[in-house]
Amino acid sequence: MIVLSFRLRPFTEDDLPEIARIEAASFREVWPDAFFTYNHRKAPELFLVAEDDEGFLGYVVGEIREAMFSGRSYMSKMGHILNIAVDPGRRKGGVGTRLMEEIESRFREAGATQVTLEVRESNIGAQGFYGGRGFNEIGRVRAYYPDEDAIVMCKAFSRDAC
Ligand SMILES: CC(C)(COP(=O)(O)OP(=O)(O)OC[C@H]1O[C@@H](n2cnc3c(N)ncnc32)[C@H](O)[C@@H]1OP(=O)(O)O)[C@@H](O)C(=O)NCCC(=O)NCCS
Repeated sequence: MIVLSFRLRPFTEDDLPEIARIEAASFREVWPDAFFTYNHRKAPELFLVAEDDEGFLGYVVGEIREAMFSGRSYMSKMGHILNIAVDPGRRKGGVGTRLMEEIESRFREAGATQVTLEVRESNIGAQGFYGGRGFNEIGRVRAYYPDEDAIVMCKAFSRDAC
């Protein structure tokens, strides 16, 4: 039996240095601190961090988007993953899964019918991670990143979503 000894808690601004460390180790273009604090102000309940007794492990940042579709008489709510990363030394230990489980559950509670995200075409590892969580590719966005296209992935919470 795997014992998960880490815990999740809400983001605080004291986390920014550790987040910057993991960002630098994870991405070609890193988010500045202001992107984190801005998204935290918009939706504090959708910015979670993971830690254990030894330190900071990772984070996930989400938002809820509301959209109107032609031919439908209601407004649709969608969860959207803006950022997720785990300390390179602590990957494949279930931290990313736990962060996604919690944010997906919060999206559902908020009434979202689906969750979407963008991932670099070359980021095969993350695509495998999302695929294992029930996400499927639904499209591509050309030049979403300065140097690369994005794959758009979606996970449905209800039958006619995605
Ligand atoms: C993607 C990421 C958040 C996953 O976090 P993690 O803590 O390693 O994920 P988990 O340990 O919960 O893995 C869950 C499953 O996904 C699989 N997986 C995770 N990373 C993978 C990778 N790089 N390649 C293949 N499979 C991977 C795991 O093997 C595991 O599968 P299993 O359940 O069959 O054992 C982490 O790899 C990361 O921080 N990557 C760099 C940042 C990034 O690319 N973020 C996504 C941007 S869109």
